[in-house]
Amino acid sequence: MKPIRKAVFPVAGMGTRFLPATKAMPKEMITLVDKPLIQYAVEEAREAGIEEFIFVTSRGKGPLEDHFDVHGDLYRILEERGKTAELEELKKTEIPSGQQFFTRQKEPLGLGHAIWCARAALGNEPFAVLLPDVVVLSSRPCLAQMMDYYAQKGGNLLAVEEVPKSAVSSYGILDVAREEGRLAVVKGLVEKPSVQAAPSNLAIIGRYILQPGVLTHLSAQRKGAGGEIQLTDALIPLIGKQPFHGVRFEGKAYDCGDKAGFIAANVAFALERPELAGTVRERVKKLVN
Ligand code: G1P
Repeated sequence: MKPIRKAVFPVAGMGTRFLPATKAMPKEMITLVDKPLIQYAVEEAREAGIEEFIFVTSRGKGPLEDHFDVHGDLYRILEERGKTAELEELKKTEIPSGQQFFTRQKEPLGLGHAIWCARAALGNEPFAVLLPDVVVLSSRPCLAQMMDYYAQKGGNLLAVEEVPKSAVSSYGILDVAREEGRLAVVKGLVEKPSVQAAPSNLAIIGRYILQPGVLTHLSAQRKGAGGEIQLTDALIPLIGKQPFHGVRFEGKAYDCGDKAGFIAANVAFALERPELAGTVRERVKKLVN
């Protein structure tokens, strides 16, 4: 079984739901507590053993590239001022040279198309996909949990969570053959089904471990739900040919592509920080009472 060394971060989206915040700033740079969203995804990947970070960007996404770079001037100033803790924290954001790759998706043709844009950097290796809009609060990072199952099962794994029936049309939905503890053996997938057509309410939540065969199916560039080239559709031909599981991960996922989800994530992540938890709890309590 080939190890998962590479991860793709689709970051080409325009972030229209967060305008005007995203007028001149990538949506992935929006701050959750005190770190940009993209950094949570990169840290999660790193903690799962990822060595190569592939970003599929678009026009205006330069700040993402800068964020993971060295910043000599700033480092020097912090050093001169004796701010060593801040300096150490900042250095952790770097991705070493040669381990970060940026490629552009030139037209917004869908998530499947974005992954296909990374094909040259992926080669013939299995890989992970992390959608930075989704952040997961858990004791063991979500992708690391998936890696544990990958070591047992191989093949393709999707992070999944039950969603309200009324919300199935916003997600990729699993058709489940049987449950094996936290794993759901997949027999089918549907991207954004209607409530009536949904085979379950088990939804794909922004984390994938995939075999490279999916790239062949993506190259057909077939359009699916919403007229977009969907990743889910390119996964369907692999079902039954390779191991294929949903992982009911331990933890709570927050959709930061949605304003209410993003605000809830800020509170939840702040409550996890010892230096903030007390005051934030008090203030939120006061506000809601
Ligand atoms: C994408 C995927 C979908 C998945 C969702 C949430 O949809 O296409 O299968 O359930 O992310 O992670 P999007 O939210 O980009 O429309």
